[in-house]
Amino acid sequence: MTKYPRQESHAVPMEEGTRLRPTPVANSKKQGALGWRGLVIGMAMGLGLMGCERLPVDVNQGGYRGTGMEQVVNPRIEAVKLAANQAPPALEPVEEGGPKASQVYQNVQVLGDLSVAQFNRLMVAMTAWVSPEQGCAYCHNVQNFADDGLYTKLVARRMTQMTQTINDRWQAHVGQTGVTCFTCHRGQNLPEKRWFTEPEMQIAGRLLGNDSGQNRAGVEAVANSDLPYDPYTPFLLESNPIRVNGTTALPTGNRMSTKQTEWTYALMMHMSDGLGVNCTYCHNTRAIAEWEQSPPARVTAWYGIRMVREINNEFITGLTPIHPPNRLGVMGDIAKVNCATCHQGVNKPLYGAQMLKAHPELSGPNALKDAMEIRGPGKPIAPQSQGPEPTPSPTSFLKGSASTGQLEGHAVARAN
Ligand code: HEC
Ligand code: HEC
Ligand code: HEC
Ligand code: HEC
Repeated sequence: MTKYPRQESHAVPMEEGTRLRPTPVANSKKQGALGWRGLVIGMAMGLGLMGCERLPVDVNQGGYRGTGMEQVVNPRIEAVKLAANQAPPALEPVEEGGPKASQVYQNVQVLGDLSVAQFNRLMVAMTAWVSPEQGCAYCHNVQNFADDGLYTKLVARRMTQMTQTINDRWQAHVGQTGVTCFTCHRGQNLPEKRWFTEPEMQIAGRLLGNDSGQNRAGVEAVANSDLPYDPYTPFLLESNPIRVNGTTALPTGNRMSTKQTEWTYALMMHMSDGLGVNCTYCHNTRAIAEWEQSPPARVTAWYGIRMVREINNEFITGLTPIHPPNRLGVMGDIAKVNCATCHQGVNKPLYGAQMLKAHPELSGPNALKDAMEIRGPGKPIAPQSQGPEPTPSPTSFLKGSASTGQLEGHAVARAN
């Protein structure tokens, strides 16, 4: 790790902009006029500077000199992120023995192998992770805990299976660190970072025509760039191909268009922003597509993309019908997961806090059994055995007829 020398001379003009404030003068009328002009100038300058981060920043080098494999870290932003991404203290462990939850309670479908003490400890933890304000009543009819009447309980049961599956089947992404409900929920009913499908803009009668899903100001999804503003639907729900680079020096049939490439970039903007890293965290930008030249984090990210698709398709979208309308997006779809849902601007969620260690019931062989039941034994995913595909296959992108350019599917497929 190398640090750039802190250049104090840079820090001065970028400082808060104090000298731009209107100067107070004696004459009240004049003061008003000046004050107003000063305010406008001040606001204009303020807007101009808003996009910049105050120097100095630290630069961590992650590759050979001259390759630009660097991460720019602003210590002031980092301090805020660190404070906002702390794991809560773990609950005291409890005895394993005694009767099982399935023997004592009436309607335990997923967590039946836990001892009653373990089961209750998890209920207390879940309450702290998801509904600390509402308490047990957020998921339960407290007159009858076995009742499945509240949709939140049904969602929580499915979320439990989802969490177990992530921890068991997706260790190629989450490692031994794993996830708990807190990784996404952070003490809130709904994770702060979630997404809905964006409706396509209507063309009829509009002078400006169709915006092709791009160029909308203030879109967090793509970190305010003018790239397509819904990179989630095609890549994190559907499995449209992400690779766009040709594999040969001369054009030999790569049909990927600039427009298609913009969609890939939009996803990459989300991934960078969601993890709080630069492109060079996963790529050597002299050869973006080359796996051999990419840092290992890119392979982790490859699994992450597949994991998120499975989370959304296998666990979350199926819950749509039980949700009240106020939980759904304009397209009637349920809130879904992206990279930021867990990561929240940090390369490892909660800076790699080992929360799962205190809750092995959210992983382990018991969970595996449940996962097999959901999925069926005939359909293993075993991501470990499945390395990144070595070469892109440009033709597989063309779902429709290549000759007419008529492509099926989501907006992403409207390239060319
Ligand atoms: C975020 C949702 C959620 C919260 C909050 C929650 N529970 Fe649960 N609870 C569940 C789910 C889901 C099940 C069913 C688990 C299963 O099927 O394996 C359950 C089952 C139970 C059962 C078993 C009832 C039976 O007879 O089948 C009891 C007892 C229970 N919870 C107690 C509590 C207590 C006490 C609290 C508060 C400290 C609490 N729960 C908070 C989701 C929740
Ligand atoms: C990978 C991220 C993730 C994890 C891990 C996760 N959730 Fe969720 N949860 C979501 C998302 C996204 C939604 C929004 C979807 C929806 O509306 O149901 C949600 C919604 C919910 C809701 C519905 C809340 C409401 O008010 O509509 C409950 C209850 C819930 N989760 C419980 C849990 C529990 C309990 C766990 C741990 C066993 C858990 N979740 C783990 C992402 C996650
Ligand atoms: C967290 C890791 C990560 C970050 C950060 C990241 N990428 Fe990627 N990038 C990937 C992965 C993984 C793939 C391959 C996806 C696949 O094949 O499914 C990829 C693919 C690409 C491709 C397509 C390569 C090809 O084979 O055609 C381009 C272009 C690209 N990224 C550009 C960028 C840019 C520009 C940035 C910064 C805005 C960026 N990436 C940030 C992980 C990352
Ligand atoms: C369900 C929660 C969850 C989601 C969603 C998620 N991740 Fe992760 N990710 C993790 C956890 C947990 C780790 C830490 C693994 C470890 O400690 O080994 C991690 C680690 C990583 C790393 C390695 C970081 C490093 O410094 O080594 C990369 C890169 C990454 N994730 C990219 C992504 C991308 C890209 C997405 C979206 C496509 C994504 N993640 C979605 C939970 C998640």
